[in-house]
Amino acid sequence: MRKINDLDLKKWKQYKDIITDSLWIFEERDKSGPHKGDYHGNFVPQIPYQLIRRFTKKDDVVLDAFLGSGTTLIECRRLQRNGIGIELLPEIAELAKERINQKSLFDGRVFTEVLVGDSTKIETRNKVNEILKFYNRKNVQLIILHPPYHDIIKFSDNPNDLSNAGSVEDFLNLFDKVVTNFIDLLEINHYLAVIIGDKYEKSEWIPLGFMILQRLLIRDDLKLKSIVVKNMVNNRAKRNQENLWRYRALVGGFYIFKHEYILLLQKK
Ligand SMILES: C[S@@+](CC[C@H](N)C(=O)[O-])C[C@H]1O[C@@H](n2cnc3c(N)ncnc32)[C@H](O)[C@@H]1O
Repeated sequence: MRKINDLDLKKWKQYKDIITDSLWIFEERDKSGPHKGDYHGNFVPQIPYQLIRRFTKKDDVVLDAFLGSGTTLIECRRLQRNGIGIELLPEIAELAKERINQKSLFDGRVFTEVLVGDSTKIETRNKVNEILKFYNRKNVQLIILHPPYHDIIKFSDNPNDLSNAGSVEDFLNLFDKVVTNFIDLLEINHYLAVIIGDKYEKSEWIPLGFMILQRLLIRDDLKLKSIVVKNMVNNRAKRNQENLWRYRALVGGFYIFKHEYILLLQKK
């Protein structure tokens, strides 16, 4: 079987930065270079860094269908991987482009393309296909999906924005559409990573992570490789309000979210 990363297993003891446990705890966000950490709902750059190092080689292609501020593509450039990112909102795609195209990241060896589009739509998949054809590629070697956690953060008023899905069921159906839209582009034996957290609704814990996993498990083209639990650093709304949240948790009989999931599946 073809190797899917550039790690030299003869030197495995030297890769101290590569995580192999299913519990990821990052004390601090990587804010180096163009990573600002200021886009509401962005993930820490250490997530795409780990995934890209473990599951791709130099010159492979990474697809991120919920690009946001471009974290994945910045890491792609740093690690010499090609990247394609899709973002529904033109102004956010523009912000991502500005960050990705910083001179310090450009070395001309890889391509990085940002598409404005709706990842649930076939037209968007066709555009990704055109990009791949243009660069003489047939498929991608890693797909990263970091969708809105349903309506926890409302990203826009756009009806195609997954954060505007009318119900949890609608949200899951739209997410399924995105997976179905792009899974054919993923090379066999390569990985799909989904980063997702849970939510509360009417004082009930809604396990979006488990629900998405359930949808992924019934597919016959993917097999589950890992469920990673990652710590969540307080979001802006909760920062400086720890005591208030502790009080609410004690009164309400619940625990405060401190983790999210990275679901790792391999294409069969
Ligand atoms: C959780 S954020 C991703 C953040 C990203 N990982 C980062 O580090 O900046 C989800 C993004 O998905 C976008 N989005 C929502 N619905 C979409 C759709 N149907 N197609 C493409 N992008 C969508 C939102 O605008 C938002 O920027």
